[in-house]
Amino acid sequence: MTKTLGLIGAGNIGSALARLAVAAGLDVVLSNSRGPETLADLVAELGPRARAATPAEAAQAGDLVVATVPLNTYTQLPAVALAGKTVIDTMNYYPERDDRIAELDAGEQTSSALVQRHLADSRVVKGFNSIDFVRLFTAARPAGAADRSALPVAGDDTAAKAQVAELLDALGYDAVDIGTLADSWRSEPGTPVYVQPYLPAQPDGLTQEEMGRWFFEVPGVPVPADKVRELTDSAVRRSAGDARATLSRD
Ligand SMILES: NC(=O)c1ccc[n+]([C@@H]2O[C@H](COP(=O)([O-])OP(=O)(O)OC[C@H]3O[C@@H](n4cnc5c(N)ncnc54)[C@H](OP(=O)(O)O)[C@@H]3O)[C@@H](O)[C@H]2O)c1
Repeated sequence: MTKTLGLIGAGNIGSALARLAVAAGLDVVLSNSRGPETLADLVAELGPRARAATPAEAAQAGDLVVATVPLNTYTQLPAVALAGKTVIDTMNYYPERDDRIAELDAGEQTSSALVQRHLADSRVVKGFNSIDFVRLFTAARPAGAADRSALPVAGDDTAAKAQVAELLDALGYDAVDIGTLADSWRSEPGTPVYVQPYLPAQPDGLTQEEMGRWFFEVPGVPVPADKVRELTDSAVRRSAGDARATLSRD
């Protein structure tokens, strides 16, 4: 059972996961690129279960570690400190943000397979990548709740996936195993399960400001496990550029 969650990246997703983890009674060790002192406010808000550290220290402290940084920094993840660990990869490829990665544009690899290649001695599991950071926090529900959602997980190591499913359960989600890291394109940007199902339809005619408010305030739509399975099964592989062209946010 995970007692301490290490977080490399403490932005939108990292801080939402830290809040859920603390609420679930876990200790969290947060890190970012600018140094522990820049996380003082977040740590104070999270309370005594939280502390800030360097990425390598967060990696070492975690029974389970989340890598939640922009994909174009994945080669900076501390591979030695992460050796032997299960690492949850929340990262998505956005060419306009991450610069072009030829292997991904060619559809030869999934982004998580690249992360696994860098973290050769870790067990990488893709997870938490297909829900936006607001719903990630607000749509979490206790086990058995009628409106609990499920999230896809993918990985090459069965035991690591079970460990991640246990974390999802503690944090408020059911897990749907969608296969290996090679299969993880089924939850990448542009696929049917990606972000949209967890949101209601956006009203027409909103100003930019109203759209921002809507995004932050609208309640999520529960997406149960059978729906996640149906959506991921129905995914069709497209080139990264095509798949992302219509997406404006992750
Ligand atoms: N936003 C979403 O709704 C969403 C949903 C699903 C998946 N994702 C994916 O999850 C990942 C994180 O997204 P986000 O929205 O949380 O990003 P974000 O808000 O921009 O936060 C990124 C975090 O990564 C840290 N970071 C950057 N480079 C680093 C490095 N070399 N070493 C350690 N930490 C580093 C940043 O720290 P500094 O600020 O100190 O640089 C920051 O804490 C992305 O790959 C994204 O595609 C996002």
